Amino acid sequence: MSRIPQHFINELIDRVDVVELIGSRVPLKKQGKEFKACCPFHNEKTPSFTVVPDKQFYHCFGCGAHGTAIGFLMEYDRMSFLEAVEELAERVGMELPREAQPQGARSSATEALFNTLSRATQFYRQQLAQSERAREYLKRRGLTGETAARFALGYAPDAWDALLKHMGQSELERARLLQVGLIVERARRAGADESSGYYDRFRDRVMFPIRDARGRTLGFGGRILDKGEPKYLNSPETELFHKGRELYGLYEARQASRTLSRILVVEGYMDVVRLHQAGITYAVATLGTATTPEHLARIFRICNEVVFCFDGDRAGRAAAWRALENALSQVRDGRQIRFLFLPEGHDPDSLVGEEGKERFEARVQNAMPLSEYFLKHLSSQVDMSTLDGRARLGELAKPLIERIPAGLYRELLADEVAKVVGIDRSRFTKSLGVDELKAPKSIKSMPARVRPASGGRRNLVRQAIHLLVHYPQIADSAPDVEGIANLDKPGIPLLLELLDSLKAQPCGTTGALLERWRDRPDVKHLSKLAALECHIPDAQGAAKELAGALRQLADEGAFVRREQLLSKHVREGLSEAEKAELQALLLRKPAARSP
Ligand code: GTP
Ligand code: MN
Repeated sequence: MSRIPQHFINELIDRVDVVELIGSRVPLKKQGKEFKACCPFHNEKTPSFTVVPDKQFYHCFGCGAHGTAIGFLMEYDRMSFLEAVEELAERVGMELPREAQPQGARSSATEALFNTLSRATQFYRQQLAQSERAREYLKRRGLTGETAARFALGYAPDAWDALLKHMGQSELERARLLQVGLIVERARRAGADESSGYYDRFRDRVMFPIRDARGRTLGFGGRILDKGEPKYLNSPETELFHKGRELYGLYEARQASRTLSRILVVEGYMDVVRLHQAGITYAVATLGTATTPEHLARIFRICNEVVFCFDGDRAGRAAAWRALENALSQVRDGRQIRFLFLPEGHDPDSLVGEEGKERFEARVQNAMPLSEYFLKHLSSQVDMSTLDGRARLGELAKPLIERIPAGLYRELLADEVAKVVGIDRSRFTKSLGVDELKAPKSIKSMPARVRPASGGRRNLVRQAIHLLVHYPQIADSAPDVEGIANLDKPGIPLLLELLDSLKAQPCGTTGALLERWRDRPDVKHLSKLAALECHIPDAQGAAKELAGALRQLADEGAFVRREQLLSKHVREGLSEAEKAELQALLLRKPAARSP
C-alpha cells in the first residue's frame, strides 16, 4: 500500500489532463467528446483506443486495456505506482505530501539542515540590503530590486566569519553549518578557540540560493563581486544538494507559471536571473555541470520541449555536444529537444539585455532540432567528400543512436544517417538492431475483451454502481435509503461502500474513483463498468436514474425485511422493537413510485 493520501490522488487525477498526457505519447484524434487512437497496447489497424477527458479515463474496446493517468504511466512507461504519482505531481506542480516522500526527508535532523539553510538565506539577504557595494554591483549588472527579491539573492560579506558569528554560536550549530557546506574546517591549531576552527566558505560574493520544488534552499552559488578566483563557487555536494539533479531557476519558473510548455536550459546563474527579468521565465541553468539525464528526466516531467542554449564560443559548442550525448537516453516520440547557439561573444544575459525579449525568443523559436545538430556535428568531424569519411560518420553515429530508446524517433534518425552516409537504409538499421516499431507491452497480460452489457433483466445493483462509476459526483445527491443493507445480493456491500465513501469525500471523476479503489479487489469490476458505455448523457439524468434504482432496491430491502420479521413472528415471536419495525414496514408505501 502506498502512503499517499486519497485526497491527494483525488486532486492529482482532477488536475492532470489525461488527453494531454496520453496525447504526448500516442497520437490522438478528437472524435466528438472523446479522443481515439490505435491502441498502444495491442496491434490494430482501426482505432479502438479511447480517451475520455471528462472521466479522466482511457479504455480500449479491442483488448480491454483501461485505466487512469496513473495507470497509463504504469502500463505504457512501466513506472511503479509511486513513480507515476511523482511524475504526474511534478507535471501539474503539486508537491508530494510529506508522508509519501522518501525516508530521511522527514527526519528531524533533515529539518534542522533545511532550517539552517533558510536562516543563512535570510542572513545573506539582510547583508545585501546593508551593503551599498553589493547592491551597486547588481544594479550595474542590470538587475532590479524586484528581481533580486524574486530570486532571494543575497550577499556574503567580505569576512572570514560573518556567517559563523551570526549563526555558529554553538558546536551543534557549527556542525550543521559544516554539514550544509556553508563553513569549512580549518586545520586544528593547539590553543585556538573553538569557533576559530572554521571559516565561512562564501566571502564577498553575490549569493544565489538554489531551491527545491517547495522553495526551500538546498545550497548556493556565489559569484565573486569583483575579480577573484574562482569566479563562481558552489555549495559542495551534501545530503540535500546534488548538482547533477538540481536546476537553478526551476522553482522560480514554476512560480511564474503553473503550466510550462517549454524549458530553456542556459549555462549561468546570471543568465537565468536576467532572462526571467526580461520576461523569459522558463529559463533554468545547470549548476556549472553538464546536463545529466536526470536533469532531463525532471524537465520532461514538466513539459515536452527543451531548448538548450549555449554561448557561441568553443566552450559553448563543446558543452552543447555533451548535452546532446546526455540527452539521447531521454529522447522519446513526442518530446522535442533543440539547440540554440548564440552569436560569438554573447551569453543569454548580454544578448537579452541588448536585443530584448521578442528577438531573443525568436531565436529560441528557431533553435536547431536535435537530429539536425546531430548530423551537422558528425559531418563536421569527417571528410564527407570521401566514401571513407561517410562510412566513418556511420560508425560514429551508431553507438549514439543506440542510446535512444526504441521508437519512431530512433528509426527516423537512423534513416537520416543512412541517407547521409549513402548506404541502404535497411542495412544500416539492421546493423543497429532497430526493428519495426514495437508496441511497448505484449497483450498477453491484458484483461480479456470487455463485452458490452447484454440485455436481459436489469440488475439494479450493477446499474447503480455503473452510474456511480461514470458520475461519481452524483453520490452527493443520492437519497438516503434504509433497507438496502438487508438485501443479500452480490454487489450490495460494494454499492453501499461506494455511496458512503463518495458522500464522505466526493470524487470529481471516474479516474479519481478508480484510484481510490486501486488496491482493492473490487477495482476490477469498477474498471470494467468504467469501460462500458453509459447511455445517460449527463450527471443530472444519471442522478435521477440512480435515485430511482436506489429506491427500488430499498423497496426490495423493505420487502425482504418484512418477510423475515413476519416469519419470525410466526415462529418465535418478536421483541417490542421488532414489532414496531414490522408495523412501520407494513405501513410503508413503496418509495420507487413516489416522485
Ligand atoms: P557572469 O560573468 O557573472 O556573467 O557569469 P557567466 O554566467 O556569464 O559566467 P560563465 O559563462 O563564465 O559561467 C557559466 C556558469 O559556469 C556559471 O554560472 C557557473 O555555474 C559556472 N562557472 C563559471 N565559472 C566558474 C568557476 O570558476 N567555478 C565553478 N565552480 N563554476 C563556474
Ligand atoms: Mn555572463
